[in-house]
Amino acid sequence: VKPIVWVVFLLGLVGCQLGAKRDLSKNAVLGKAVFAEEKCFQCHTMPMSQIGRKYGDDWHYAHLWDPRLVVPSSAMPGYPNEFFLIKVVVGSKTYMTPSGGSAYGINRTPNLESLFSFNPSKFIYLYVSDVSWKTLPNGLKAFLPMSLSPETKKDGTPVVWARGSLQGRVNPGDQITLIAPQAPLEESVAFLQGQETAEKPDWFDIVDSKSKVVSGASIKLGKKVYEENCAVCHGTRGIGDGPASLFLYPKPRNLVSGEYKFKTTLSDESPTDADLYRTVTRGMANTAMPGRSSLPTRARWSVIAYIKSLARDRAKRPPRHLLVIHEPELAPSTLAEHRDRGEALFVGKAKCNDCHGPGGQSQDKLPHGDGPSALILQDDWGYPIHPADLAGGILKRGNSPKEIYITITTGMMGTPMPPYSDTLTDEERWDIAYYVSHLNQTHGK
Ligand code: HEC
Ligand code: HEC
Ligand code: HEC
Repeated sequence: VKPIVWVVFLLGLVGCQLGAKRDLSKNAVLGKAVFAEEKCFQCHTMPMSQIGRKYGDDWHYAHLWDPRLVVPSSAMPGYPNEFFLIKVVVGSKTYMTPSGGSAYGINRTPNLESLFSFNPSKFIYLYVSDVSWKTLPNGLKAFLPMSLSPETKKDGTPVVWARGSLQGRVNPGDQITLIAPQAPLEESVAFLQGQETAEKPDWFDIVDSKSKVVSGASIKLGKKVYEENCAVCHGTRGIGDGPASLFLYPKPRNLVSGEYKFKTTLSDESPTDADLYRTVTRGMANTAMPGRSSLPTRARWSVIAYIKSLARDRAKRPPRHLLVIHEPELAPSTLAEHRDRGEALFVGKAKCNDCHGPGGQSQDKLPHGDGPSALILQDDWGYPIHPADLAGGILKRGNSPKEIYITITTGMMGTPMPPYSDTLTDEERWDIAYYVSHLNQTHGK
């Protein structure tokens, strides 16, 4: 048997830990003790300024393993000893994945039994990562970014699922090293995530929509900015395979594919320059994608010129249909009526509840991203994707009616979140946006 060592990424219960609501209070108390014990205080003051949900949990694990995976110039020490490292062998039993592909079981060992219950009716998918283990420091070979500590032991059988180009390249007998955060580390991350969350400017309001890559910007400067600030995650060639990507979910975007979630252009058209500038400036909340408002304006426009040059031809075509946004001027007395109409559309004509879950008046009927289709959705890059928690979750673009209206109108390219520009009227989209924005603000945090 060839001694191939695969890098594996575990999403487990299809991202449940990412979108789902969780009770941070118990962990937060434990985490505070650990935080102090680990002498984080040597360098940090508490509370750490507005760190809550600034990044996703995935970013924190990468940062705690080796801070330089996500912040190349970091002087913070890593805490790799706070992770479990478990070598496992791919077994020969095959399983069917939700998308119809096949996956292999992994052989049961005492170590694994401390992490999984091997309940045969539930599968926990381990994803083979495109990142070569050779490029990773300290012999890192795999990662499980979810709660797998004894108290929070996950129920189910681990199954290795090789996606896309790696399909057929994982074979029975191959060795995989799984890495999972130990309980104290999980508690520290829960503690950080429970801290105060910063108010971010609305995505749309960051720059004038007509702005273009400015003339002083250059691809040459952009390349330098990219190498210093972006390549750790997006990879030197822009295909999303930087060393940190092993830890991250959602994965850093493949910038060559030219598919963007946040834009003000219709269906499959490219984003405007202003759209890219908005995202690079503001980042994507609760993911690893950081905001770079600290970079000089010229550096930001230059890096945009550079990432556009990486995209494949089709994605380079300038957009033709720009979204024109007319935010209605509503009399405050009619707002409730519009929200009610939005709620009726959410579960009726628009069927948002298929993915996002029920929607309804009572607390247990809120759309927490757990609709009937939620567990089988995949993105264009072959990873499962979880519908956003619309009642209290962090929305990546923002939770103002305008931001939500843009999401409903344009959809999120590369994900199952569809555009409704053709199927709902403008008024209907605004009504749903008022409803979702209100839900999110009423039940948030
Ligand atoms: C020797 C000093 C030192 C120690 C000890 C230390 N840090 Fe840091 N930390 C830094 C420095 C320097 C930065 C800024 C660079 C970076 O982001 O890595 C930082 C950044 C961070 C950030 C990112 C803040 C932001 O807003 O981007 C987090 C989160 C963090 N540390 C958590 C921790 C935790 C948790 C511990 C203990 C387990 C810890 N740190 C221990 C020096 C330290
Ligand atoms: C610490 C890792 C990390 C760094 C550093 C990083 N990114 Fe990202 N980036 C991500 C992740 C993860 C995503 C995908 C988030 C998602 O899809 O929800 C992303 C997504 C993006 C997107 C797609 C936005 C969209 O609308 O879909 C762009 C553009 C982007 N990054 C550009 C950059 C640029 C330019 C830099 C450097 C200035 C940078 N990123 C630095 C992790 C990173
Ligand atoms: C086929 C499944 C599906 C349907 C139907 C659907 N969504 Fe989504 N939606 C998703 C997924 C998946 C995401 C998460 C994408 C991501 O984070 O990359 C999402 C994300 C969102 C977001 C969060 C955007 C952000 O900034 O993070 C909003 C708001 C949203 N959907 C609203 C709606 C509304 C309103 C409807 C109905 C008009 C709807 N969705 C219908 C799958 C769906």
